[in-house]
Amino acid sequence: MSVRKSPMRLFMQPRGHVTLPHYDGNSLHGFNQQVIGKKKWIVTSPNTPLPNIPFMFASLVGKNFKYNPRVYDFYEFETVPGDLIFLPRYMVHEVHSMEPVNLNLNWVCTPTSPNESSILGRREVEIVKLRKTLPLINKAFFPDNFSSYGGQGQELIDRYSREVSNTRMLKRLVKELAGYPRLLVLAKQLKERANEFSKNNFNVK
Ligand SMILES: [Fe+2]
Repeated sequence: MSVRKSPMRLFMQPRGHVTLPHYDGNSLHGFNQQVIGKKKWIVTSPNTPLPNIPFMFASLVGKNFKYNPRVYDFYEFETVPGDLIFLPRYMVHEVHSMEPVNLNLNWVCTPTSPNESSILGRREVEIVKLRKTLPLINKAFFPDNFSSYGGQGQELIDRYSREVSNTRMLKRLVKELAGYPRLLVLAKQLKERANEFSKNNFNVK
């Protein structure tokens, strides 16, 4: 496992705070402990992923998105104080804060080897190869510093992208670009949800 410099975060959110469905970047495994309050989690398999925002980790879904059990393999549950969950890399999660004050500890690490056994695992290594080959993509889409991917940077970048051919990388580029019409349709709703998320993130009294 590769552990980055600051591998733990404290989340504080008020009731009603909701994350956009997303999977964590940097191929992170997560461990999340509920300390105060209660959270509802909707976790979706990386083999039935929701559509993604082009090049990014958040899902491209509108405000009224419903998880159709015939399309998505998902599981819904709640965490209460004392619960610790393990969220393997690429598991899409949407998290609702249920109590007036919700406090969680979150630890992350990145496995040093890729895992291409899922649709999102394959997408991630293709995107790592794209980011390595066309660094402009990093500037345009990613706030994080690619050169420290997963805490170890170049070594992990090379390991994750090693099996991806140029043809496969270009197919990925085309697939991501094909998401733009849907992004244009949903942009306003996504922005509203993202603003709501930022406004209330860490905002507990
Ligand atoms: Fe997350």
